[in-house]
Amino acid sequence: MDPMPEPRCPDHEPAAAPAAAPSSEYASYMRTDELLALQRSDTQLLHRDERLFQCVHQATELWLKQANFEIEHATSLIEACQLVGAARILARASDCIDFITRPIDILTRMNPTDYRALRPALGQGSGVQSPGWQGLRAAAPRLHAAFTARRRAERMSLAEVFRCAGDAPLQLLAEALLDLDAKVSLWRLRHLQVVVRTLGGQGVGTRGMPVQTLARLLEQRLFGELWEARAAQADSA
Ligand code: HEM
Repeated sequence: MDPMPEPRCPDHEPAAAPAAAPSSEYASYMRTDELLALQRSDTQLLHRDERLFQCVHQATELWLKQANFEIEHATSLIEACQLVGAARILARASDCIDFITRPIDILTRMNPTDYRALRPALGQGSGVQSPGWQGLRAAAPRLHAAFTARRRAERMSLAEVFRCAGDAPLQLLAEALLDLDAKVSLWRLRHLQVVVRTLGGQGVGTRGMPVQTLARLLEQRLFGELWEARAAQADSA
């Protein structure tokens, strides 16, 4: 009988040998052996910058996972009428988005030629498919719906929310939603700047999206009606 074929990992290299026992309690709890084996090995890299590229993306996924975890919790706190607690938790979600915004800049240190060398490794993979990003896009409307249901239960219009005293729970919460939205917009802006420096203003992404289309997404808001209500408040002040 023919011997069983060697199992192959997705990168068409022989699968790694079973992991040895973790080297310390820290490694065992933090699962650092598995975490640090999640990047392509030196021999798999198409270009050495691919390590940096994977590192920034993987770190981003971790922080987005945490942001979405906080947003889901904030949503359930709103449903339980704990508005100040929800605003506090949302501040953490905003911090998570902060943490992915600064690191993306390091990708500007990779020049366009080096990016072209590693790009085949991506195939048609794109950040649009990021589970963390998709999770955020799904969690935000649920958060907004919980906020709106609470506001309606308190019989307040959005204008009244922004007009009431600065420490009113609903207003604190509305401001926390705006903070989160503003952080996401900042990430989008920094990402676009990286994309333009890497692909050029006329470039096209791995999913076929022109960079110019990506630029138009900058105008998207998670909570558009809150921005409008606050702007109206500012205009009438
Ligand atoms: C050199 C670095 C990068 C380049 C050249 C790049 C390029 C692009 C391009 C061209 C698009 C448009 C869709 C497409 O056709 O692919 C896109 C979208 C996106 N990318 Fe990146 N990207 C880079 C880094 C990153 C990083 C580090 C992340 C973090 C996960 C990321 C996440 C995303 C997301 C979430 C979108 C959708 C954005 C939206 O809907 O506004 N990208 N990227």
